[in-house]
Amino acid sequence: MKPESWIERWKAGQTGFHLSHTNPWLEKCWPQVAAPAGSTVFVPLCGKSLDLLWLRDQGYEVIGVEISRLAVKGFFAENALQPQIDHIENFERWRCDGITLLVGDFFDLTPQMLVDVASVYDRASLIALPETMRLEYVEKIAALFAPALPTLLITLEYDQQQMSGPPFAVGSSEVESLYRQCFSISQIYSEQILDAEPHFRSKGLTSLIESVYLLKPSVGSNQ
Ligand SMILES: C[S@@+](CC[C@H](N)C(=O)[O-])C[C@H]1O[C@@H](n2cnc3c(N)ncnc32)[C@H](O)[C@@H]1O
Repeated sequence: MKPESWIERWKAGQTGFHLSHTNPWLEKCWPQVAAPAGSTVFVPLCGKSLDLLWLRDQGYEVIGVEISRLAVKGFFAENALQPQIDHIENFERWRCDGITLLVGDFFDLTPQMLVDVASVYDRASLIALPETMRLEYVEKIAALFAPALPTLLITLEYDQQQMSGPPFAVGSSEVESLYRQCFSISQIYSEQILDAEPHFRSKGLTSLIESVYLLKPSVGSNQ
């Protein structure tokens, strides 16, 4: 999917991925990331996720990037936050109370914009991208953060023949092949969630598995 299609999706209110609560896997699994207290967490393709607030409330600085200005505007308005807005390179930068959201294309980010980041939280970002873009996404993350940073990754797995996506199916073998060069990978949870997400059943899915991965930089990894 092209970034412009996401902007249109937000305008059309096609945001079924957005949760009206903090992601329970984040609350449960984040301690395993062992991000230093007070450090900065990067949230790629962040939407208007309430996870940004949860991370901030744990004492972290949070930097997100999101292509839809509407999503970013919604995040600040819906959470009664009054941001300061300026520009940095190709991005509009909205900042308030420890949360910085960059409006623009993730693929335009530069390492200089993310110098203090110590960990990454990816929920529904990798799986928002078609297969052809997923390697590009992982390579971009590797270029932004060298050495690699501890990452919490949440994916969905289903039979891609049954639905075209997004969200796209990303199984454990693809996670391995995308990340093994720089990370040691642990699949820490995996749960069948089709009963909790019945609209996916009506789209033809017979199984929908949500998985949580802890990616720890491999010893000696400098990419
Ligand atoms: C499936 S949503 C997940 C949002 C968020 N992570 C969450 O958990 O609610 C994917 C998000 O990525 C954004 N997006 C897609 N491509 C992007 C890009 N190239 N740069 C920045 N944001 C992008 C979309 O607008 C959308 O909000």
